[in-house]
Amino acid sequence: MTTTSAKPIVLTGDRTTGPLHLGHYVGSLRSRVQLQDQAQQFLLLADAQAMTDNAGKHQKVTENVIEVALDYLAVGIDPAKSTIFIQSQVPELAELSQYLMNLVTVSRLERNPTIKDEIRQRGFERDIPAGFLAYPVSQAADITAFRARLVPVGDDQLPMIEQTNELVRRFNSTVGQDVLVECEAVLSCVTRLPGIDGKAKMSKSLGNAIALGASEDEIRKAVNLMYTDPNHLRVDDPGQVEGNVVFAFLDAFETDVAKLDALKAHYRRGGLGDTVLKRLLNEHLQEAIRPIRAERERLATDRGEVLRILRVGTERARDAAARTLSAVKRALGLNYFDHTELASGAR
Ligand code: TRP
Repeated sequence: MTTTSAKPIVLTGDRTTGPLHLGHYVGSLRSRVQLQDQAQQFLLLADAQAMTDNAGKHQKVTENVIEVALDYLAVGIDPAKSTIFIQSQVPELAELSQYLMNLVTVSRLERNPTIKDEIRQRGFERDIPAGFLAYPVSQAADITAFRARLVPVGDDQLPMIEQTNELVRRFNSTVGQDVLVECEAVLSCVTRLPGIDGKAKMSKSLGNAIALGASEDEIRKAVNLMYTDPNHLRVDDPGQVEGNVVFAFLDAFETDVAKLDALKAHYRRGGLGDTVLKRLLNEHLQEAIRPIRAERERLATDRGEVLRILRVGTERARDAAARTLSAVKRALGLNYFDHTELASGAR
């Protein structure tokens, strides 16, 4: 192909349904900041995908594009190193997904385990929006349009990667050439942060999240509310570390491993109170969020600058996607006007 870059191409993204939280920070944002030096990184603000299960709530989706972009920039994603772009503004992605759509069956889409879960969670039952059922195909277009080899995602997205690679193989064998490239999921090595209530997943819609722009007060309150060990009634009682949200957070934010191990041992033995642990965690979270919140607030006063960054990123993304799309269309014979005899208007 035309471009050979030494750095691997990485693509990932987020639906723009709300500002991001600490769970995103620990699970993905931190590693994106590191990855941007080693890879050619594309970050997609998945507004079009967010619309697939938010029909009628398009305003929520569009308003949060800026919010998620602010989160990216505030944690240290550098637009000079990473390409941040808005999915809906790259029409090549929709066009590519239209051709990929012919290579998948409705029953295969219905078998995608993540889609099945999401259908249940959203209560769609038999009233499944067609765009929603087909979003794994659009996600395959997002990935393949950029020739991405690596896709950092949570484990719930593994079925999407599998479907992407199925589509790549089917497309390439259909046209008899290797036009699209297969990709690989990169799973975050830090375990998922639980919600402050102890539910498996931190999520804004469950109301158990700590936002990246949280105030000092909000952080302190969230830490105080954190679920610990309900049987650890007196300081002297032995406590349980497993399933204890404060320890799950300390695992992600206490870098002194020896100190953390000692705290766990002490807690298990008895004699270590929740208040002491929560005070320590509060200090770590305050320290982690303080610079993010400050940068977020600074950027939020300059929306013009954020939009400029998104426009530049989106133009760069369009160029890359357009190159793949023309290769795809050429392979399908959809390049009617490429031929010089037609272009020169020979009669
Ligand atoms: N599905 C992802 C999510 O739920 C967002 C997303 C859209 C994505 N397109 C992508 C992730 C392509 C990785 C690659 O957040």
